[in-house]
Amino acid sequence: MNRRISRSLTLLAALCVAIVASATARADDYVPTVLVTGANRGIGLELTRQYAARGWKVIATARNPAEATELEALAADSEGKVSIETLDVTDFASIDELAAKYKDKPVDVLFNNAGITGGGGNQLFARKMEWPTYELVLRTNVIGPLKMAEAFLPNVLASQQKKISNVSSSQGSIAGTTNAMLYFYRPSKAALNMEMHLLAIQLKSKGVSVALIDPGPVDTDMMSMLPKKMLRPVETAGSDLIRITDQLSVENTGTFWTFDGSVLPW
Ligand SMILES: NC(=O)c1ccc[n+]([C@@H]2O[C@H](COP(=O)([O-])OP(=O)(O)OC[C@H]3O[C@@H](n4cnc5c(N)ncnc54)[C@H](OP(=O)(O)O)[C@@H]3O)[C@@H](O)[C@H]2O)c1
Repeated sequence: MNRRISRSLTLLAALCVAIVASATARADDYVPTVLVTGANRGIGLELTRQYAARGWKVIATARNPAEATELEALAADSEGKVSIETLDVTDFASIDELAAKYKDKPVDVLFNNAGITGGGGNQLFARKMEWPTYELVLRTNVIGPLKMAEAFLPNVLASQQKKISNVSSSQGSIAGTTNAMLYFYRPSKAALNMEMHLLAIQLKSKGVSVALIDPGPVDTDMMSMLPKKMLRPVETAGSDLIRITDQLSVENTGTFWTFDGSVLPW
């Protein structure tokens, strides 16, 4: 081989090494992003706190950011890791607007957390049924998460982890139901389970995994009618949800877990 060719080959090899090294460095520098709905209080605020503490970027969404003082303080202390965005999951225009704003930005974990019970006293069959409340419960707990998944699917696909994690509830387990109460809330979580199970099947071949996780009874505003001693601290519930989401993969996608990692019956 003449000397010129040999020198060119050496240069080419060096160039290849440099390209591989720079790609590896870029992969190592990757900071994952999580989008949390209902991030202003309760479990959503705790997820935001814990993901930010791990160094993740957090798109923390709230219906009324102006009133989200705890979230604002968290964002102010986060060195830019937490961005607060306005989002009402029942409002398709609000979802589409946010998705357009984050077009082409990877979202490693879409955390569908926002949810409402509709109030136990409003869903007493043949006694007091506030039917418009049922519609709101379904729009918030069922339609909102699926619309979120559709709007942010390109972002999830563009990410490294490609996960959609949903805060479900053991109250949505038909097999586990023995008492007749919460006629709005329980069907809404059962429907969330079914639609996300469908999504898990459809998206598995694209490398997207989907989780349904029951956080157990947690000490948040939603459960303020129960004595605190019956409730789990929100910090524990947050770390359980994150641990299970970390363990989520295309192998176990579409599973309905409870907070300790055991599988719940549909
Ligand atoms: N706490 C429990 O024991 C328990 C048990 C099982 C499952 N879960 C589930 O865990 C999730 C979080 O509940 P939580 O205990 O943290 O309740 P929470 O303290 O009452 O918080 C609910 C969150 O959802 C938000 N939200 C409600 N409607 C919304 C909408 N249309 N658009 C956007 N955000 C909306 C609320 O925002 P605003 O402040 O604007 O109302 C709030 O941030 C829910 O899906 C719930 O069903 C909770």
